[in-house]
Amino acid sequence: MIIDGREVDARGTLLETVLALGIDLPHLCKDDNLPPIGACRTCLVEADGRIVAACHTPADGIQEVRTTSERVLEIRRAILRLTAGMHGPVQDRAGGPRSSEIWAAYESHGIDWPSHPWRVRTGLDTSSPFFVFDEQPCILCGRCVAACQQLQHIGAIGIAWTATAAQVTAGTGVPFAASACTACGSCVAACPTYALRPKLSTGTPAGGRRPDGT
Ligand code: SF4
Ligand code: FES
Repeated sequence: MIIDGREVDARGTLLETVLALGIDLPHLCKDDNLPPIGACRTCLVEADGRIVAACHTPADGIQEVRTTSERVLEIRRAILRLTAGMHGPVQDRAGGPRSSEIWAAYESHGIDWPSHPWRVRTGLDTSSPFFVFDEQPCILCGRCVAACQQLQHIGAIGIAWTATAAQVTAGTGVPFAASACTACGSCVAACPTYALRPKLSTGTPAGGRRPDGT
């Protein structure tokens, strides 16, 4: 297989093969420890002339992959702009603007943010002793749900409703403290944005306020 002009052995999925080459391809809904979800489309590449999601496309049988053709870059930028429209102008979980996966993806794709319009969502659940769920930066990638169900086999988190009403919820819509959540932290570790964050991390006061004070 040829990837961006370099000859490599195919391994697993296209995403795994691309990442093994050290190429910085966004994959916001694919956690390293979990199967692909296929929700975010930020991992699109051009494979033998077709635009495909690298995270769930087997590498075997593909001849040529381009991760930076003008065509695929333009599509990934459009997807990231839409993602930025959900995410909103809150800082990442480390309290700085450039350290989470989503910010790295914006930066590598030249997304002019925060000038992009964004959708206001106000849900804030501080009931867990360990973490905060802040709806605004949630991009509905599903990683937290997969981590809770497939790594921990607890199933305390889900995504309820659809389209613009879609929302991460604990149990049947109760606060996390009243759900089956054991505060194991797997969802926080899986989250690629600032939505699920530890209460006592840098810049994240226990009260659950965002680092920008909102
Ligand atoms: S809370 Fe984080 S991991 Fe869960 S869906 Fe939202 S962005 Fe993804
Ligand atoms: S990482 Fe492939 S669709 Fe999200």
